[in-house]
Amino acid sequence: MSAITVGVVGKGGVGKTTIAGLIARTYVERGARVIAIDTDSNPNLGLSLGFSLAETEAVPVLPRAVLVGSGGPTTAETLVADYGRPTPAGPTLLSAIRVNEAGGGCTCGGHATVRGMLAETLADADVTLVDMEAGLEHLSRSGGTLAYADVLVVVCEPTRKSVITATRTRDLATELGIPRVVAVGNKARDPEDIQFFESQFAANGLTLACVVPYETSVASADQEALGRLDAVPDSVRSAIERLLDELDRTVNSSH
Ligand SMILES: Nc1ncnc2c1ncn2[C@@H]1O[C@H](COP(=O)(O)OP(=O)(O)OP(=O)(O)O)[C@@H](O)[C@H]1O
Ligand SMILES: [Mg+2]
Repeated sequence: MSAITVGVVGKGGVGKTTIAGLIARTYVERGARVIAIDTDSNPNLGLSLGFSLAETEAVPVLPRAVLVGSGGPTTAETLVADYGRPTPAGPTLLSAIRVNEAGGGCTCGGHATVRGMLAETLADADVTLVDMEAGLEHLSRSGGTLAYADVLVVVCEPTRKSVITATRTRDLATELGIPRVVAVGNKARDPEDIQFFESQFAANGLTLACVVPYETSVASADQEALGRLDAVPDSVRSAIERLLDELDRTVNSSH
């Protein structure tokens, strides 16, 4: 497969970390080497990849604002080797941002490091996946954390506000020159929710890659604070398979 860099974005609480964990797991099942980067200041991606809370918190945080690559003091490969940790689910996890203390300063430095890493082609990764914190700042901060992503996966839930956020995200991504944005409708509880995604995404020119149903087992995995996503229902699994097929089509058509 061609190497691909994917950013998972969207409004707060829509399911970015859950979907990012499922994307990472499914790529591993397809035989890909996956690097997963958590850029949330309250990092949870480790839980979605099978780590305990203690293991997630033990992942060392990437240094801030290092120049990566040509002329800089380090390479993306060195950062992965030094700061990456293999997870039970398979992907290597990197943690870019952590806010441990109130008033500890802004997180721009961590975002700048990730931006530099994504500009490099990681020799040991087929898939580089970034779980973003909520909001739109990452598309402006430090020149756009995700400026070098091949594709953004913008996650929505069946609410107008999450679709408005997705539309704004797509517009900012276009300005930054990110070639493709695909949308995921998450937490669909009934046919009306599916209809909502289809009509809203069509009206806003968003490509609907898949609809992921609301499944109590996904929600309860989170409540158990384990974030275990290794036994999701077939309905969720097949939706994520469709998303990966769309991502593969996307990257092949833009190369
Ligand atoms: N398809 C789904 N079915 C049921 N529950 C879901 C589904 N997707 C996500 N959830 C639940 O929704 C909640 C928010 O999910 P998640 O943490 O992945 O969102 P997020 O967008 O990463 O949030 P944040 O903006 O805080 O980073 C979690 O409790 C999660 O278990
Ligand atoms: Mg999250």
